[in-house]
Amino acid sequence: MSFLDPTWTGLLYLVAAALFILALMGLNSPRTARRGNLVGAAGAALGVVTVFLSARLDNIPWILAAIAVGTAVAAPVARRVKMTQMPQLVAAFNGVGGGAAALVALLELAHTGDAWVRLAIAFTLLVGAVSFAGSAITFAKLQELMTTRPVVFRGLPVIMAAVLLAAVGAAVAVVLTGSLPLALALLVLGLAAGVLLVLPVGGADVPIVISLLNAFTGLAVAASGLVLGNVLLLVAGTLVGASGTILTRAMAAAMGRSVAGILFGAFRGGSTAGSTAVSERPVRSSSAEDVAVLLGYAQRVIIVPGYGLAVAQGQHTAAELAKALQLRGIQVDFAIHPVAGRMPGHMNVLLAEANVPYEELKEMTEINSEFKTADVALVVGANDVVNPAAKTSSGSPIFGMPILEVADARQVVFLKRSMRPGFAGIENELLYEPQTTLLFGDAKDSLTKVLGAVKAL
Ligand code: TAP
Repeated sequence: MSFLDPTWTGLLYLVAAALFILALMGLNSPRTARRGNLVGAAGAALGVVTVFLSARLDNIPWILAAIAVGTAVAAPVARRVKMTQMPQLVAAFNGVGGGAAALVALLELAHTGDAWVRLAIAFTLLVGAVSFAGSAITFAKLQELMTTRPVVFRGLPVIMAAVLLAAVGAAVAVVLTGSLPLALALLVLGLAAGVLLVLPVGGADVPIVISLLNAFTGLAVAASGLVLGNVLLLVAGTLVGASGTILTRAMAAAMGRSVAGILFGAFRGGSTAGSTAVSERPVRSSSAEDVAVLLGYAQRVIIVPGYGLAVAQGQHTAAELAKALQLRGIQVDFAIHPVAGRMPGHMNVLLAEANVPYEELKEMTEINSEFKTADVALVVGANDVVNPAAKTSSGSPIFGMPILEVADARQVVFLKRSMRPGFAGIENELLYEPQTTLLFGDAKDSLTKVLGAVKAL
């Protein structure tokens, strides 16, 4: 039985949709992001409760059991996940969303004779399956369960084209006939297309593909809203689809890429270039005390945080070091590259957590011209985002990506553990330049030692 009439149901859905939009607005800035998240969760909870109160549901014990199992799996995982593993978590949750939309569409096929609804079902099946399988592969790549390098083999473009053609054919047949076996075939073809789409994407581009698949899931969920006649699913799916598309474009632009280039670059042999070989050339390495002298007697220091700072959880020590230098009258800023770390806004979130004032976080476009005036650029666990190969080496996977111009600073100090390359797997010539010094070690340990030595100056 249902407790709510359609007017009340519509009204509650409207409130939930407004909460989703407010959530997205909150996510605009690190200051309001936490609240935005809670507002979004409240909207989702309201949506679920409204369904229970308004629809005539069969199998309520099964539904409650599914919710309980989902919560029992997801809540501890989300609690325990490290910030650096967030892209994998997003990939996993995203894939499950796409898969769920596809399964719902499959079940609804038996309940409709309307060709338009069957069109929405075919779309949901295909896009949801692509998203599920694609997300599973991105998860495996990011979790390093498989190689992070592009996987390409002869005939891949032909197989991909054949799968897509067959999928379109199966989709048309499902719309015309409503046949369940054909719908299952469409589901399998969608899974194959998802795998083939993501396999050739390599290293640095994987997080962008997650964002794209996120947009796909949004579209699949929106279409399942049409299938089920549920306005809230339609609105929520459209919001996810639109924001995922905007994020994909923004990330691709920050890396100087086109989305098509990322997806099909490896087909042409583009983004497979690069080498993970570590060269044996000599570099200048020094002690924490020497680095402290460089920093402590500078007038201007620019700190460049990267993924390694997040891994080492060195943000609080970096913030303390900045304060200690400022107490000595030194101007200190943090230079934030849009794709530093492993997800959008990673560095901002990390440094906000360490209470670094927002005015000291400078965006790439704002700070790049200022490296010329800096005595020291202190690169903490960053590599690709300062790698000049992005400008000079046309075969490199990061060619065309805008970088932080740390090479313009009088001295460059890298804090890293080894000579291993960054995420994109390519060497950084800057490490061998005469103005560069390396302090080897875990970023947090090195920062702690440098901080102690600066205080002792
Ligand atoms: P990376 O190029 O991956 O470099 C990180 C460096 O940190 C490595 O050189 C590593 O060297 C060092 N490191 C790792 N753990 C460390 C630790 N505990 N202590 C000290 N150093 C440590 O990072 P980046 O410069 O931030 O660049 C980000 C990469 O991710 C780019 O390729 C970017 O395209 C990609 N990406 C990011 C995003 C977003 S939105 N953020 C999206 C897509 C792609 P050692 O191993 O020698 O220590």
